[in-house]
Amino acid sequence: MTSATIDRISQIARPEVRDLPAYNAGLSSDVVRQRYGVDQIARLGSNENPSGPSPAVADALGGLAQTAGRYPDANCLALRAAIAGRTGLQSAEVVIGNGSENLLEALCLAFLSPGDRVVTLLPSFGLHEIYPRMMGAQVEMVPVTAAMEFDVPAWCEALAGGARPPKMAILSNPSNPVGCMLDDAAFERVVQAAPPETLLVIDEAYYEYASLSPGFPDALARLRQEDRPWIVLRTFSKAWGLAGLRVGYGLASDASLVQMLDRVRTPFNVNMAAQVAALAAWGDPEHMTTSVRAAVAQRDLMAAQLRAQGVTVAPSAANFLFLDLRRPNGPVAEALLARGIIIKPWKDAGYETFIRVSVGTAADNQRFVAVLADILRHGA
Ligand SMILES: Cc1ncc(COP(=O)(O)O)c(C=O)c1O
Repeated sequence: MTSATIDRISQIARPEVRDLPAYNAGLSSDVVRQRYGVDQIARLGSNENPSGPSPAVADALGGLAQTAGRYPDANCLALRAAIAGRTGLQSAEVVIGNGSENLLEALCLAFLSPGDRVVTLLPSFGLHEIYPRMMGAQVEMVPVTAAMEFDVPAWCEALAGGARPPKMAILSNPSNPVGCMLDDAAFERVVQAAPPETLLVIDEAYYEYASLSPGFPDALARLRQEDRPWIVLRTFSKAWGLAGLRVGYGLASDASLVQMLDRVRTPFNVNMAAQVAALAAWGDPEHMTTSVRAAVAQRDLMAAQLRAQGVTVAPSAANFLFLDLRRPNGPVAEALLARGIIIKPWKDAGYETFIRVSVGTAADNQRFVAVLADILRHGA
């Protein structure tokens, strides 16, 4: 391709897309194996559940090849009914996505126009900034405090202040990458501060883990008392162990909100294997709960061990920890990769000394704690 053609591609792309940062999806295990010549990989970069899904998922997927020639159910009726049944909503108020990231995208496609205000957190899950910017929205990011907690007064100010109300507020509770959470009282203050025109998007990707933290709010129950637009997003990728199959769901204030998302999503956005697997996983909550309890115990153990080494660890209600190494994170991440350990070095300005490490198997967690201590002692 000539450079003139490459320039032309850039010229004809929408300006919002031309300037968009790429999502940092991290390295695959295969790439790390090949690039660093290591056999044993500890995948601690994507907040996956090392226990994987319920054994019922394998059984459910077994017979799928025979029906793979058919399109999946475009409306995910069985899965929506199952989720509605347990969460107390109507099926029409439940929407399913190809991962909850697909629902974030659909929300932005359906509701955001160039120049709209969107309020979210800094540091944040990348797509909370990227998808609104893709639509030309102005994203205002509210930094966490020095203690790595939500800055509740700053959130209230961002929501209630400004010349015009935000079109959307995207709030992950608990946050990714920090892991901090808004408790009951803080959530109440944020809801009260949000103008009724603002679509509240509460991203609860780590809901099942955070539910074990005292004070974690029942956002769904609270928002159901509100006569305003809102949606709570959850996922099968984390606690339910189905990251590879891509299923997320949204619990919406009203069926009309779901219908707006239906207009912009691809018609068959959730494939057949994903629907079948999610339904089987949902039918075995005990498996999920057992793995979540184990992850929370491992998280607290790791946090205590790292703090004992002098590492600053942010409070976490999720299945990961955000660590301030007080030195550039790039060389440390490289040294960990060379030992087969994948974590996520944070790239946002102001957070270049932070890494996020997922809670993995007990063995991988202990390997991480020991190798990090070694790197911090002897240099990367
Ligand atoms: C806060 C948050 N939201 C959404 C997602 C997307 O999850 P998925 O698309 O796998 O459901 C993630 C994944 O890491 C996340 O951390």
